[in-house]
Amino acid sequence: MSDLLAPLFEPLQIGPLRLKNRIVMAPMTRNFCPGGVPGEDVAGYYRRRAEGETGLIITEAVGVDHPAALGEAGIGESDLPHLYGERALAGWRRVVEQVHGAGGLIFPQLWHQGPMRRQGTGPNPDVASMRPSGLWGPAGGLTSSPEDYVQSQLLPTKPMSERDIEEVIAAYARSAVHVRDCGFDGIAIHGGHGYLIDTFLWNVTNQRSDAWGGSRRERSRFAAEVVRAIRRAVGPEMPILMRFSQWKQQDFKAKLAHSPAELEEILLPIADAGVDVFDASMRYFNRAEFPDQPGADAVLNLAGWARKITGRLAMTVGGVGLNNGMYDSNKQGGAQASDNLQLLVERFARGEFDLVGVGRSLLQDPDWARKVRLGEAFEPFSNDALKVLT
Ligand SMILES: Cc1cc2nc3c(=O)[nH]c(=O)nc-3n(C[C@H](O)[C@H](O)[C@H](O)COP(=O)(O)O)c2cc1C
Repeated sequence: MSDLLAPLFEPLQIGPLRLKNRIVMAPMTRNFCPGGVPGEDVAGYYRRRAEGETGLIITEAVGVDHPAALGEAGIGESDLPHLYGERALAGWRRVVEQVHGAGGLIFPQLWHQGPMRRQGTGPNPDVASMRPSGLWGPAGGLTSSPEDYVQSQLLPTKPMSERDIEEVIAAYARSAVHVRDCGFDGIAIHGGHGYLIDTFLWNVTNQRSDAWGGSRRERSRFAAEVVRAIRRAVGPEMPILMRFSQWKQQDFKAKLAHSPAELEEILLPIADAGVDVFDASMRYFNRAEFPDQPGADAVLNLAGWARKITGRLAMTVGGVGLNNGMYDSNKQGGAQASDNLQLLVERFARGEFDLVGVGRSLLQDPDWARKVRLGEAFEPFSNDALKVLT
Protein backbone atom coordinates (compact mmCIF):
# COMPACT_ATOMS: atom_id res chain seq x y z
CA MET A 1 0.00 0.00 0.00
CA SER A 2 1.27 3.48 -0.77
CA ASP A 3 1.93 5.70 2.24
CA LEU A 4 -0.36 8.25 0.67
CA LEU A 5 -3.41 5.99 0.88
CA ALA A 6 -2.54 4.39 4.22
CA PRO A 7 -4.90 6.70 6.21
CA LEU A 8 -7.89 5.13 4.41
CA PHE A 9 -6.89 1.79 5.91
CA GLU A 10 -6.90 2.90 9.54
CA PRO A 11 -9.63 1.02 11.44
CA LEU A 12 -12.57 3.00 12.83
CA GLN A 13 -14.74 2.27 15.85
CA ILE A 14 -18.43 3.17 15.55
CA GLY A 15 -20.00 2.24 18.89
CA PRO A 16 -19.56 -1.52 19.20
CA LEU A 17 -18.41 -1.93 15.56
CA ARG A 18 -14.86 -1.96 14.32
CA LEU A 19 -14.45 -1.19 10.63
CA LYS A 20 -11.20 -2.48 9.15
CA ASN A 21 -10.92 0.50 6.81
CA ARG A 22 -12.75 3.66 5.75
CA ILE A 23 -14.14 2.47 2.42
CA VAL A 24 -17.92 2.12 2.45
CA MET A 25 -20.09 0.75 -0.34
CA ALA A 26 -22.65 3.51 -0.98
CA PRO A 27 -26.33 2.49 -1.19
CA MET A 28 -27.31 1.58 -4.75
CA THR A 29 -30.73 0.49 -5.95
CA ARG A 30 -30.36 -2.52 -8.25
CA ASN A 31 -33.88 -3.83 -9.00
CA PHE A 32 -32.94 -7.48 -8.59
CA CYS A 33 -35.44 -8.46 -5.87
CA PRO A 34 -38.55 -10.01 -7.45
CA GLY A 35 -41.53 -9.51 -5.16
CA GLY A 36 -39.35 -7.42 -2.85
CA VAL A 37 -37.31 -10.46 -1.80
CA PRO A 38 -33.48 -10.58 -2.06
CA GLY A 39 -32.34 -13.96 -3.38
CA GLU A 40 -29.08 -15.89 -3.45
CA ASP A 41 -27.78 -13.71 -6.32
CA VAL A 42 -28.15 -10.59 -4.19
CA ALA A 43 -26.48 -12.31 -1.21
CA GLY A 44 -23.55 -13.29 -3.46
CA TYR A 45 -23.29 -9.75 -4.85
CA TYR A 46 -22.86 -8.30 -1.35
CA ARG A 47 -20.59 -11.15 -0.24
CA ARG A 48 -18.19 -10.38 -3.10
CA ARG A 49 -17.88 -6.75 -1.89
CA ALA A 50 -17.04 -8.04 1.61
CA GLU A 51 -14.46 -10.46 0.13
CA GLY A 52 -13.04 -7.48 -1.76
CA GLU A 53 -12.18 -5.84 1.60
CA THR A 54 -14.91 -3.17 1.64
CA GLY A 55 -14.93 -1.81 5.21
CA LEU A 56 -18.72 -1.44 5.42
CA ILE A 57 -21.53 -2.23 2.99
CA ILE A 58 -24.68 -0.13 2.85
CA THR A 59 -27.34 -2.00 0.90
CA GLU A 60 -29.54 -0.67 -1.82
CA ALA A 61 -32.50 1.30 -0.43
CA VAL A 62 -35.05 -1.06 1.16
CA GLY A 63 -38.74 -0.22 1.62
CA VAL A 64 -39.96 0.14 5.21
CA ASP A 65 -43.09 -1.60 6.45
CA HIS A 66 -45.58 0.98 5.15
CA PRO A 67 -48.01 0.47 2.24
CA ALA A 68 -46.90 3.61 0.36
CA ALA A 69 -43.16 3.18 0.92
CA LEU A 70 -42.41 1.94 -2.60
CA GLY A 71 -43.59 2.39 -6.15
CA GLU A 72 -41.68 1.63 -9.29
CA ALA A 73 -38.16 2.98 -9.32
CA GLY A 74 -39.35 5.76 -11.63
CA ILE A 75 -38.66 4.70 -15.19
CA GLY A 76 -40.70 1.55 -15.57
CA GLU A 77 -38.50 -0.63 -13.38
CA SER A 78 -39.50 -2.46 -10.23
CA ASP A 79 -38.15 -5.40 -8.18
CA LEU A 80 -37.26 -3.09 -5.31
CA PRO A 81 -36.61 -4.89 -2.02
CA HIS A 82 -38.52 -4.43 1.21
CA LEU A 83 -37.89 -5.21 4.84
CA TYR A 84 -40.98 -6.98 6.10
CA GLY A 85 -42.68 -10.33 5.60
CA GLU A 86 -41.12 -13.74 6.26
CA ARG A 87 -39.75 -14.30 2.75
CA ALA A 88 -37.98 -10.98 2.49
CA LEU A 89 -36.63 -11.22 6.03
CA ALA A 90 -35.29 -14.73 5.36
CA GLY A 91 -33.61 -13.32 2.23
CA TRP A 92 -31.99 -10.52 4.22
CA ARG A 93 -30.83 -12.95 6.93
CA ARG A 94 -29.06 -14.88 4.18
CA VAL A 95 -27.46 -11.67 2.84
CA VAL A 96 -26.16 -10.85 6.32
CA GLU A 97 -24.87 -14.40 6.81
CA GLN A 98 -22.97 -14.25 3.51
CA VAL A 99 -21.40 -10.87 4.27
CA HIS A 100 -20.44 -11.89 7.80
CA GLY A 101 -19.02 -15.16 6.46
CA ALA A 102 -16.61 -13.08 4.37
CA GLY A 103 -15.64 -10.89 7.33
CA GLY A 104 -17.74 -7.88 6.27
CA LEU A 105 -20.20 -5.54 7.96
CA ILE A 106 -23.54 -4.47 6.51
CA PHE A 107 -26.31 -1.90 7.15
CA PRO A 108 -29.58 -1.79 5.16
CA GLN A 109 -30.71 1.63 3.92
CA LEU A 110 -34.28 2.22 5.11
CA TRP A 111 -36.40 3.94 2.48
CA HIS A 112 -39.77 5.60 2.12
CA GLN A 113 -40.14 7.18 -1.29
CA GLY A 114 -42.74 9.74 -0.16
CA PRO A 115 -43.54 12.17 -3.00
CA MET A 116 -41.11 10.51 -5.45
CA ARG A 117 -43.21 7.32 -5.47
CA ARG A 118 -44.90 6.99 -8.84
CA GLN A 119 -48.57 7.05 -7.89
CA GLY A 120 -50.57 3.94 -8.72
CA THR A 121 -47.52 1.64 -8.81
CA GLY A 122 -45.67 -0.68 -6.42
CA PRO A 123 -47.01 -3.38 -4.09
CA ASN A 124 -50.06 -1.28 -3.08
CA PRO A 125 -51.04 0.78 -6.11
CA ASP A 126 -54.36 1.92 -4.59
CA VAL A 127 -52.71 3.61 -1.62
CA ALA A 128 -51.99 7.34 -1.93
CA SER A 129 -48.38 8.52 -1.88
CA MET A 130 -47.24 10.24 1.32
CA ARG A 131 -46.45 13.93 0.76
CA PRO A 132 -45.93 16.40 3.64
CA SER A 133 -47.98 19.12 1.92
CA GLY A 134 -49.42 17.19 -1.03
CA LEU A 135 -46.61 18.49 -3.26
CA TRP A 136 -44.11 16.56 -5.39
CA GLY A 137 -41.83 19.54 -5.96
CA PRO A 138 -41.50 22.59 -8.19
CA ALA A 139 -42.50 22.72 -11.85
CA GLY A 140 -39.42 23.47 -13.94
CA GLY A 141 -36.77 22.21 -11.51
CA LEU A 142 -33.55 20.86 -13.00
CA THR A 143 -34.29 17.12 -13.10
CA SER A 144 -33.41 14.04 -15.10
CA SER A 145 -36.83 12.44 -14.45
CA PRO A 146 -38.90 11.77 -17.59
CA GLU A 147 -41.33 14.57 -18.51
CA ASP A 148 -44.45 12.34 -18.43
CA TYR A 149 -43.59 11.23 -14.89
CA VAL A 150 -43.02 14.82 -13.74
CA GLN A 151 -46.28 16.04 -15.27
CA SER A 152 -48.25 13.23 -13.61
CA GLN A 153 -46.67 13.97 -10.22
CA LEU A 154 -47.18 17.74 -10.28
CA LEU A 155 -50.89 17.54 -9.47
CA PRO A 156 -51.26 18.33 -5.77
CA THR A 157 -52.59 15.55 -3.53
CA LYS A 158 -53.78 15.36 0.05
CA PRO A 159 -51.19 16.46 2.63
CA MET A 160 -50.23 13.82 5.18
CA SER A 161 -52.51 13.76 8.21
CA GLU A 162 -51.24 13.54 11.77
CA ARG A 163 -52.23 9.87 11.69
CA ASP A 164 -50.30 9.29 8.44
CA ILE A 165 -47.21 10.77 10.07
CA GLU A 166 -47.57 8.60 13.18
CA GLU A 167 -48.03 5.49 11.03
CA VAL A 168 -44.94 6.17 8.92
CA ILE A 169 -42.80 6.75 12.00
CA ALA A 170 -44.12 3.50 13.50
CA ALA A 171 -43.27 1.74 10.22
CA TYR A 172 -39.63 2.85 10.49
CA ALA A 173 -39.51 1.56 14.07
CA ARG A 174 -40.99 -1.83 13.08
CA SER A 175 -38.51 -2.15 10.25
CA ALA A 176 -35.67 -1.26 12.60
CA VAL A 177 -36.62 -4.22 14.80
CA HIS A 178 -36.46 -6.41 11.68
CA VAL A 179 -33.01 -4.98 10.92
CA ARG A 180 -31.79 -6.02 14.35
CA ASP A 181 -33.44 -9.44 14.14
CA CYS A 182 -31.91 -10.12 10.73
CA GLY A 183 -28.46 -9.63 12.29
CA PHE A 184 -27.46 -6.45 10.44
CA ASP A 185 -24.65 -4.45 12.05
CA GLY A 186 -26.35 -1.07 11.96
CA ILE A 187 -29.03 1.00 10.24
CA ALA A 188 -28.76 3.51 7.42
CA ILE A 189 -31.65 5.90 6.80
CA HIS A 190 -32.31 7.52 3.43
CA GLY A 191 -32.92 11.16 4.33
CA GLY A 192 -31.91 12.68 0.97
CA HIS A 193 -32.59 12.96 -2.77
CA GLY A 194 -36.20 14.22 -2.49
CA TYR A 195 -37.68 11.16 -0.79
CA LEU A 196 -40.05 11.36 2.18
CA ILE A 197 -37.72 12.50 4.97
CA ASP A 198 -36.04 15.04 2.69
CA THR A 199 -39.36 16.53 1.63
CA PHE A 200 -40.08 17.37 5.27
CA LEU A 201 -36.70 19.14 5.44
CA TRP A 202 -37.25 21.09 2.18
CA ASN A 203 -39.33 24.28 2.36
CA VAL A 204 -40.60 23.77 -1.22
CA THR A 205 -42.38 20.52 -0.31
CA ASN A 206 -43.05 21.22 3.36
CA GLN A 207 -45.40 24.15 3.69
CA ARG A 208 -47.15 22.87 6.78
CA SER A 209 -48.29 25.30 9.45
CA ASP A 210 -48.50 22.67 12.22
CA ALA A 211 -45.69 21.32 14.40
CA TRP A 212 -44.16 19.40 11.41
CA GLY A 213 -43.41 22.54 9.39
CA GLY A 214 -42.12 26.09 9.79
CA SER A 215 -38.47 27.03 10.36
CA ARG A 216 -35.59 24.75 9.36
CA ARG A 217 -35.44 23.45 12.91
CA GLU A 218 -39.17 22.70 12.85
CA ARG A 219 -38.96 21.01 9.46
CA SER A 220 -36.28 18.72 10.96
CA ARG A 221 -38.73 17.38 13.49
CA PHE A 222 -39.97 14.53 11.28
CA ALA A 223 -36.42 13.29 10.58
CA ALA A 224 -35.58 13.58 14.28
CA GLU A 225 -38.70 11.66 15.31
CA VAL A 226 -37.90 8.89 12.83
CA VAL A 227 -34.38 8.61 14.28
CA ARG A 228 -35.73 8.72 17.84
CA ALA A 229 -38.25 5.94 17.10
CA ILE A 230 -35.54 3.79 15.51
CA ARG A 231 -33.18 4.44 18.42
CA ARG A 232 -35.90 3.41 20.90
CA ALA A 233 -36.59 0.26 18.87
CA VAL A 234 -32.97 -0.95 18.62
CA GLY A 235 -31.45 0.37 21.84
CA PRO A 236 -28.46 2.63 22.48
CA GLU A 237 -25.72 0.52 20.86
CA MET A 238 -26.67 -0.09 17.25
CA PRO A 239 -25.02 2.47 14.97
CA ILE A 240 -27.38 4.72 12.99
CA LEU A 241 -26.19 6.47 9.83
CA MET A 242 -28.35 9.03 8.06
CA ARG A 243 -27.93 10.24 4.50
CA PHE A 244 -28.95 13.79 3.63
CA SER A 245 -28.40 15.96 0.57
CA GLN A 246 -28.81 19.50 -0.62
CA TRP A 247 -29.86 18.32 -4.10
CA LYS A 248 -33.20 16.71 -4.87
CA GLN A 249 -34.22 14.57 -7.81
CA GLN A 250 -37.05 17.08 -8.27
CA ASP A 251 -34.45 19.87 -8.59
CA PHE A 252 -30.71 19.26 -8.66
CA LYS A 253 -30.15 22.92 -7.76
CA ALA A 254 -32.23 22.81 -4.58
CA LYS A 255 -30.58 23.69 -1.28
CA LEU A 256 -31.67 23.03 2.28
CA ALA A 257 -29.05 25.38 3.66
CA HIS A 258 -27.20 28.38 2.22
CA SER A 259 -24.82 28.80 5.15
CA PRO A 260 -23.28 26.77 7.98
CA ALA A 261 -25.75 28.39 10.42
CA GLU A 262 -28.69 27.16 8.34
CA LEU A 263 -27.18 23.68 8.11
CA GLU A 264 -26.79 23.66 11.87
CA GLU A 265 -30.51 24.35 12.33
CA ILE A 266 -31.29 21.28 10.26
CA LEU A 267 -28.67 18.82 11.49
CA LEU A 268 -28.48 19.46 15.22
CA PRO A 269 -31.98 18.21 16.07
CA ILE A 270 -31.30 15.07 14.02
CA ALA A 271 -27.91 14.51 15.67
CA ASP A 272 -29.49 14.93 19.11
CA ALA A 273 -32.08 12.30 18.24
CA GLY A 274 -29.33 9.67 18.00
CA VAL A 275 -27.49 9.67 14.65
CA ASP A 276 -23.90 8.38 14.82
CA VAL A 277 -22.80 9.07 11.24
CA PHE A 278 -23.96 11.66 8.70
CA ASP A 279 -23.70 10.49 5.10
CA ALA A 280 -23.53 13.76 3.14
CA SER A 281 -24.59 12.96 -0.41
CA MET A 282 -22.77 15.07 -3.01
CA ARG A 283 -22.25 14.35 -6.67
CA TYR A 284 -18.60 15.46 -6.46
CA PHE A 285 -16.71 15.02 -3.19
CA ASN A 286 -14.13 17.63 -4.14
CA ARG A 287 -16.45 20.65 -4.02
CA ALA A 288 -16.55 23.26 -1.29
CA GLU A 289 -20.04 23.66 0.16
CA PHE A 290 -19.83 27.22 1.44
CA PRO A 291 -16.79 28.70 -0.37
CA ASP A 292 -17.34 32.21 1.01
CA GLN A 293 -16.52 31.08 4.55
CA PRO A 294 -13.28 32.50 6.02
CA GLY A 295 -9.96 30.66 6.24
CA ALA A 296 -9.62 26.90 5.98
CA ASP A 297 -13.41 26.45 6.23
CA ALA A 298 -13.77 27.78 2.69
CA VAL A 299 -12.77 24.38 1.24
CA LEU A 300 -14.91 22.10 3.44
CA ASN A 301 -17.35 19.88 1.56
CA LEU A 302 -20.82 18.98 2.87
CA ALA A 303 -19.52 16.05 4.93
CA GLY A 304 -16.89 18.33 6.43
CA TRP A 305 -19.57 20.75 7.55
CA ALA A 306 -21.76 17.96 8.95
CA ARG A 307 -18.82 16.77 11.05
CA LYS A 308 -17.82 20.25 12.19
CA ILE A 309 -21.37 21.26 13.11
CA THR A 310 -22.57 18.08 14.81
CA GLY A 311 -19.36 16.52 16.16
CA ARG A 312 -20.60 13.19 14.80
CA LEU A 313 -18.77 11.01 12.31
CA ALA A 314 -19.21 11.96 8.66
CA MET A 315 -18.99 10.18 5.34
CA THR A 316 -18.28 11.79 1.98
CA VAL A 317 -19.29 10.40 -1.42
CA GLY A 318 -19.39 11.43 -5.06
CA GLY A 319 -17.11 10.52 -7.94
CA VAL A 320 -14.43 8.72 -5.92
CA GLY A 321 -12.13 6.97 -8.40
CA LEU A 322 -14.13 8.23 -11.40
CA ASN A 323 -13.99 11.23 -13.73
CA ASN A 324 -17.69 12.16 -13.64
CA GLY A 325 -20.77 12.17 -11.40
CA MET A 326 -23.57 9.60 -11.45
CA TYR A 327 -26.05 11.57 -13.58
CA ASP A 328 -23.32 12.37 -16.10
CA SER A 329 -22.34 8.72 -16.33
CA ASN A 330 -26.01 7.86 -16.93
CA LYS A 331 -25.98 10.15 -19.95
CA GLN A 332 -22.51 9.30 -21.20
CA GLY A 333 -22.77 5.51 -20.85
CA GLY A 334 -20.18 5.33 -18.10
CA ALA A 335 -17.11 6.94 -16.58
CA GLN A 336 -13.36 6.67 -16.86
CA ALA A 337 -11.28 5.64 -13.89
CA SER A 338 -9.69 8.70 -12.29
CA ASP A 339 -6.78 9.03 -9.99
CA ASN A 340 -8.51 11.52 -7.71
CA LEU A 341 -7.73 9.59 -4.52
CA GLN A 342 -4.90 11.98 -3.74
CA LEU A 343 -7.38 14.86 -3.49
CA LEU A 344 -9.61 12.65 -1.37
CA VAL A 345 -6.85 11.66 1.03
CA GLU A 346 -5.69 15.28 1.41
CA ARG A 347 -9.17 16.15 2.68
CA PHE A 348 -9.36 12.99 4.78
CA ALA A 349 -5.96 13.62 6.38
CA ARG A 350 -7.08 17.11 7.42
CA GLY A 351 -9.89 15.45 9.40
CA GLU A 352 -12.69 16.66 7.15
CA PHE A 353 -14.55 13.31 7.20
CA ASP A 354 -14.16 9.82 8.62
CA LEU A 355 -15.55 7.56 5.91
CA VAL A 356 -15.54 7.44 2.13
CA GLY A 357 -18.63 6.26 0.25
CA VAL A 358 -17.97 4.56 -3.07
CA GLY A 359 -20.84 3.91 -5.46
CA ARG A 360 -20.27 3.09 -9.12
CA SER A 361 -16.65 2.00 -8.66
CA LEU A 362 -17.81 -0.76 -6.31
CA LEU A 363 -20.82 -1.60 -8.45
CA GLN A 364 -18.44 -2.23 -11.33
CA ASP A 365 -15.72 -4.00 -9.39
CA PRO A 366 -16.23 -5.97 -6.15
CA ASP A 367 -12.46 -5.87 -5.54
CA TRP A 368 -12.16 -2.09 -5.69
CA ALA A 369 -11.12 -1.65 -2.02
CA ARG A 370 -8.46 -4.34 -2.32
CA LYS A 371 -7.14 -2.68 -5.48
CA VAL A 372 -6.81 0.59 -3.60
CA ARG A 373 -4.84 -1.18 -0.89
CA LEU A 374 -2.55 -2.90 -3.38
CA GLY A 375 -2.20 0.17 -5.62
CA GLU A 376 -3.69 -1.65 -8.63
CA ALA A 377 -5.36 0.12 -11.56
CA PHE A 378 -9.15 0.67 -11.49
CA GLU A 379 -11.61 -0.38 -14.17
CA PRO A 380 -13.68 2.24 -15.97
CA PHE A 381 -17.39 2.24 -15.05
CA SER A 382 -19.76 1.06 -17.76
CA ASN A 383 -23.55 1.41 -17.65
CA ASP A 384 -23.61 -2.26 -18.72
CA ALA A 385 -22.69 -3.07 -15.11
CA LEU A 386 -26.17 -1.84 -14.10
CA LYS A 387 -27.76 -4.78 -15.92
CA VAL A 388 -26.07 -7.54 -13.94
CA LEU A 389 -25.02 -8.35 -10.38
CA THR A 390 -21.26 -8.58 -10.95
C1 LIG B 1 -27.30 2.59 -9.82
C2 LIG B 1 -27.34 3.55 -8.66
C3 LIG B 1 -28.33 3.40 -7.70
C4 LIG B 1 -28.37 4.26 -6.60
N1 LIG B 1 -29.32 4.04 -5.62
C5 LIG B 1 -29.25 4.76 -4.47
C6 LIG B 1 -30.07 4.40 -3.36
O1 LIG B 1 -30.82 3.40 -3.37
N2 LIG B 1 -29.96 5.16 -2.24
C7 LIG B 1 -29.13 6.24 -2.16
O2 LIG B 1 -29.09 6.92 -1.13
N3 LIG B 1 -28.32 6.58 -3.20
C8 LIG B 1 -28.34 5.84 -4.32
N4 LIG B 1 -27.45 6.11 -5.33
C9 LIG B 1 -26.41 7.13 -5.13
C10 LIG B 1 -25.11 6.50 -4.60
O3 LIG B 1 -25.27 6.03 -3.29
C11 LIG B 1 -23.93 7.50 -4.61
O4 LIG B 1 -24.23 8.56 -3.72
C12 LIG B 1 -23.66 8.05 -5.99
O5 LIG B 1 -23.61 7.03 -6.95
C13 LIG B 1 -22.36 8.84 -6.01
O6 LIG B 1 -21.29 7.99 -5.75
P1 LIG B 1 -20.30 7.50 -6.97
O7 LIG B 1 -19.93 8.75 -7.70
O8 LIG B 1 -19.19 6.82 -6.27
O9 LIG B 1 -21.11 6.59 -7.83
C14 LIG B 1 -27.42 5.29 -6.47
C15 LIG B 1 -26.43 5.43 -7.45
C16 LIG B 1 -26.38 4.56 -8.52
C17 LIG B 1 -25.26 4.71 -9.53
